[in-house]
Amino acid sequence: MIRVGFLFSRLRVEEKYLLEELERRPGVDVIRINDGERFFDIARLPEQADVLFERSISYLRGLYISKIFAANGVRVVNSPEVAERCGDKYITSQILVNAGIPTPRVYMAFDQESALAAVEAMGYPCVIKPVIGSWGRLLARVDDRQAAEAFIEHKAGLGVLHQVYYIQEYIHKPGRDIRAFVIGEEPICAIYRTSENWITNTARGGVASNCPLTPELVAICRQTAQAIGGGLLAIDLFETEHGLMVNEVNHTMEFRNSIATTGVNIPALMVDYVLAAAKGHEAGDRQHSQPQPMRFPSWQDRPSAGSVFSA
Ligand SMILES: Nc1ncnc2c1ncn2[C@@H]1O[C@H](COP(=O)(O)OP(=O)(O)O)[C@@H](O)[C@H]1O
Ligand SMILES: [Mg+2]
Repeated sequence: MIRVGFLFSRLRVEEKYLLEELERRPGVDVIRINDGERFFDIARLPEQADVLFERSISYLRGLYISKIFAANGVRVVNSPEVAERCGDKYITSQILVNAGIPTPRVYMAFDQESALAAVEAMGYPCVIKPVIGSWGRLLARVDDRQAAEAFIEHKAGLGVLHQVYYIQEYIHKPGRDIRAFVIGEEPICAIYRTSENWITNTARGGVASNCPLTPELVAICRQTAQAIGGGLLAIDLFETEHGLMVNEVNHTMEFRNSIATTGVNIPALMVDYVLAAAKGHEAGDRQHSQPQPMRFPSWQDRPSAGSVFSA
């Protein structure tokens, strides 16, 4: 029996698909853990699980609870290390830069005046983002000095996290960008997100369509996944005249609009990966539970790969 701890905030469509998939697998016992409803004694394993599948909507809840499980010897998917690398845009960008992966330029500043200086040095337009956040919330495209001054002043009135200024080069996209889904270190499918708006998140009205896995896309996704540490990832990319660029990497991604669009059973492949992690754990590496990036050398060989979702 494999015991899968399933950590969630709310059962979104994604979590329902994942639970259905887990529950249809023989020999799998699912322990549902709501991230807000209980407290955790950090000195003991909260639940007898072979693996924790982290699907919190809240980045911080997911991260802390993952750390508690990992500290008590349980493997977590995605590992707290990977979650931290994806969950903080500065850390992601720093990893991409160090790995030599094409990515928009980023300046960091920690005070209103130096933030304005950074924006002026970057040039217009540029983008100011909270280092932690998703669904395109509180992103600002800054087109001139007046807008920069106003936005930086407004941010100063928000929480302490907004005193960290992440200033990114604006990339002129062809009305769309790319989201690629990765299992382990292998891209399994991708979508274009097309929008009239410069923010293309499907949560903000971006429309999904299938994007072919070209050799260039596969190569940059593998390189990015390796640099991040592997796992269940969604990589956001921009198409530019100089080739693809990685914008960010997501670690608890939504995928409801990408199953029928790509014809790939994303939740089934995710569950395969989580169960493989649990089996690695059962095999006796409880002592060495430092999460290792796992490889699916050839996801095409896996039973559920490529199957069309039928719900
Ligand atoms: N530097 C940029 N240049 C052009 N478009 C951007 C840039 N940064 C973000 N965007 C657009 O805004 C969307 C949301 O930004 P992103 O960095 O992915 O933040 P979030 O974590 O909120 O999804 C992206 O998918 C993209 O469409
Ligand atoms: Mg994004």
